[in-house]
Amino acid sequence: MIEIVPFSGSAPKSGLHVILLYEDSRLDAHPGLAASVSTAAKADGFKGQKDKSFYDPISRHLVVGMGKSKDATLESFRRAGLLAARRSLDLNVERVLLSAPAGSDKDQAGALAEGAWLGLYKYTEAKGKPASKDKDAEAKPKEAEFKLLCLEGFGRGSAEVLKEKRLVCEAVNLVRDLVNRAPGEKFPAKYARDIQALAKGLPGVSVKVLDKKAIQAWPMAGLLAVNQGSLHPPVFIHLHYKPKGRARKRVALVGKGVTFDSGGLSLKPAGSMLDMKCDMAGSATVLALGLLAAKLGLPVEIHACAPVTENLPGADAIKIGDIIRYKNGKTAEMLNTDAEGRVILADGLLYAESLKPDLILDFATLTGAAIAALGMNITAVLGDDRICERFKALGERSGEAFWQLPLPDSYHAHIESKVADIKNVGNSGEAGTMAGAFYLKEFVTTKAWAHFDIAGPAFLKSEDGVHPAGGTGIPLRTVLEYLKGL
Ligand code: BES
Ligand code: ZN
Ligand code: ZN
Repeated sequence: MIEIVPFSGSAPKSGLHVILLYEDSRLDAHPGLAASVSTAAKADGFKGQKDKSFYDPISRHLVVGMGKSKDATLESFRRAGLLAARRSLDLNVERVLLSAPAGSDKDQAGALAEGAWLGLYKYTEAKGKPASKDKDAEAKPKEAEFKLLCLEGFGRGSAEVLKEKRLVCEAVNLVRDLVNRAPGEKFPAKYARDIQALAKGLPGVSVKVLDKKAIQAWPMAGLLAVNQGSLHPPVFIHLHYKPKGRARKRVALVGKGVTFDSGGLSLKPAGSMLDMKCDMAGSATVLALGLLAAKLGLPVEIHACAPVTENLPGADAIKIGDIIRYKNGKTAEMLNTDAEGRVILADGLLYAESLKPDLILDFATLTGAAIAALGMNITAVLGDDRICERFKALGERSGEAFWQLPLPDSYHAHIESKVADIKNVGNSGEAGTMAGAFYLKEFVTTKAWAHFDIAGPAFLKSEDGVHPAGGTGIPLRTVLEYLKGL
């Protein structure tokens, strides 16, 4: 990642000067800017419009539009940060000085840096080394050439904000790497090893990995059932972060860790399987949050819990009509093996309950119905009204959107089974996201519980603002803000 720091007084040499401009302020009033630049910008039709920029090659000034000042949000700064960083890359410069509009503050500096750090992300783990030096590749600017962005005029406290934001963006980008990673590179045992390696040496962090034997001994009936069709055994990852002093709250975060979802015997059509390496995004989010909490020294105790398995239709796969019995005595009829997320999350929730936390949040790419209801850019949140409201409000600042779906008692009937206590599907074509949440609710006794269905936002087909196509790391940043406020 590029360095982004507050300007320390010495002008970066051989660089670029970026000016952020609101549409309703005047470029020609900017100190140190040649009059010719604002004249040329005007002639070009540029007056500070959102997502637009103007470059003057002679004075090496880049003016980035921010839109109208009254409409400016933190998202405006994220987008401006990304645009400035992208143009700097294109221009092949090493160092950039960026001047904020008058009256900007440290949170806006943080958002600007966030935009650059998140927006420039690329998944490169699986790219081979270039075989030979080809001329075209050499001529193209590489990210490595853009090294430093100095921020000027964002006021006091910017340095601290930038330090925190860097760790946050690294955590988001870690989630993206894990989600984008090929399924063959993150089968359960390997995934667990990678998390253990990442946790090594972090203060207050311990990682417990339950293997198949320990999962049988517990027992985690849902995780074992979904795993039956795979050659790779399951794991259950429990990452614990305990802060140094007294913890303000004890929080359990549970995440769905299906490293590849074929649907099992209820096999998905080929096209629907294309992105199903993303089905462990919930687990990646909670594990990365646990690691991040330690790096930030958050005064909140965190139990990140992740049931991890593939969902495959092997010869011993769970069959349609099979009934499983959970540790709490509840029985569940498996009527669609593609509704496997709720089946393993139930074990995760029972495990979380055994830790007696103050609150439980779970995250899962659970239902296509969440995409049908809210599209790709809004996370469905269900459960405790206060938690849902809080996330809706926090999402407006973070740029990650949330919307609450209800859990009316009368809809519980959707998951009632004729032969067992519950079944793992609701009524076909009706309120699928709510049916999933009702199944989970059977395993929760903690009052403060919310379920996040991230099937849409966790993995995008095409870029959206600071989120590239592929894994996004949504909604890690908002959960962190929530935890900070506890
Ligand atoms: N992993 C999928 C949900 C999903 C769909 C995530 C699209 C990301 C993008 C989940 O396991 C699933 O297949 N759910 C079924 C449930 C149904 C059978 C009740 C679905 O949504 O079709
Ligand atoms: Zn599925
Ligand atoms: Zn799934």
